[in-house]
Amino acid sequence: MSVSTLAADQSVCAPLPVLGRDVTVPLVTGGEVAYAALDYAASAPALQRVWDDVAAYAPYYGSVHRGAGYLSQLSTDLFENARRTVAEFLGCREGDQVVFTRSTTDSLNLLADALPADCQVFVFETEHHASLLPWRNARVTYLDAPRSPHQAVETLERALADRDPHGPALVCVTGASNVTGELWPVRELAAAAHAHGARIVLDAAQLAPHHPVSVADLDVDWVAFSGHKLYAPFGSGVLAGRADWLRAAEPYLAGGGASRKVSRREDGGVDVEWHDSAARHEAGSPNVIGAYAVASACRALTEAGFDTLVAREQHLVRTVREGLSDVPQVRFLSLFGDDAPRVGVLSFVVEGWNSSHFAAALSAEYGIGVRDGLFCAHPLLRTLLGSDPQAQGECGSPEAAPGEKSLNAIRVSFGAGTPDEHVERFVRAVRELVTDGAKWNYRTEDGRCVPDTSA
Ligand SMILES: Cc1ncc(COP(=O)(O)O)c(C=O)c1O
Repeated sequence: MSVSTLAADQSVCAPLPVLGRDVTVPLVTGGEVAYAALDYAASAPALQRVWDDVAAYAPYYGSVHRGAGYLSQLSTDLFENARRTVAEFLGCREGDQVVFTRSTTDSLNLLADALPADCQVFVFETEHHASLLPWRNARVTYLDAPRSPHQAVETLERALADRDPHGPALVCVTGASNVTGELWPVRELAAAAHAHGARIVLDAAQLAPHHPVSVADLDVDWVAFSGHKLYAPFGSGVLAGRADWLRAAEPYLAGGGASRKVSRREDGGVDVEWHDSAARHEAGSPNVIGAYAVASACRALTEAGFDTLVAREQHLVRTVREGLSDVPQVRFLSLFGDDAPRVGVLSFVVEGWNSSHFAAALSAEYGIGVRDGLFCAHPLLRTLLGSDPQAQGECGSPEAAPGEKSLNAIRVSFGAGTPDEHVERFVRAVRELVTDGAKWNYRTEDGRCVPDTSA
């Protein structure tokens, strides 16, 4: 679909302004081109609105919760208001806590630290490592990759039915896969978890930037996401949800801000009273700019309206799928089938190509930034590729011979700030590379495939 037909389609809005939209990059073949940032799933560009809000606040920056001055009071108010804005954005329940963290990884590690004793954790092997790995102090059951949303619910139900019904249990599930973009049946998984007396945390790192997330409607106990994937790359993430486990746990970090009262004991030791609020897990000086930026992004996305954002993104997904549907060498990766609902995240392999080589050519010859590799989801890639995945292959000449299994994949991802032209250029570039091959030679340097400029 072209820009003109897009304009005629009233349901598809224009991209939201993001930083970097005017940046040009050099091409190895000569000249410059506007950079097409198609790696939103790794990190999305800042919304212009977020940047402007942060710039407007920056002169008023002050310490949070630890200053008597006017700007400290102002910054404290903004920080606490940011918490309320995030709670509203996530449709939190009365009594839920919003803890500001550094990222989704940080949020899930915090929750892992707050698990009650003898907690059993259930997690699908298909998860991003941030969801798969933090549960080191729990008894973890890894669930096999399901091949449909229905099978995901069945698999979880079966595993939960076998568990000790008296002990605490937690299910950790992603809302949208960072590899396939596929949406997971979160509501149904939450219902299954609760029916068996377990709790559930939603990894919304890839869902929240693309879809409305309501803790109350989905009936999940916690949700985690990262500011830098939500157009607010200022170092903040969020863990929001039930207060009880968080209150009962030792603070994630010990230090100022988390402690209400500290006193010396007669025996020379120290007694500490920790806060019961979210501050319990936010020791140290809070990242007020990060929290403010996240709140600004939440407001911007809400005002833009998820209905129109989703419609635009689905239009871009269709542009990729339909634009490459007649290129048999391109195989999209999916667990639930090609037509399963997904966000703007698509991974694929190209027959006859090493993925690192292909991604390097997209960058060097077309100014398109995608990601190649295993996307911090090694077990899932193993299932999807049917091979033992390896982070890098040698580049240079195309290696995966026709019929051979790929060792890694290419991921293209986009969102609210992506213009049509970027996705259209991507489709054109993939078609040209498949048909004509790369115009340049490439070599491996420090484990990356790069254009060979030595000749
Ligand atoms: C589904 C998912 N969960 C968690 C993470 C970890 O996010 P972060 O690196 O911001 O901690 C990612 C990052 O790509 C992700 O895609």
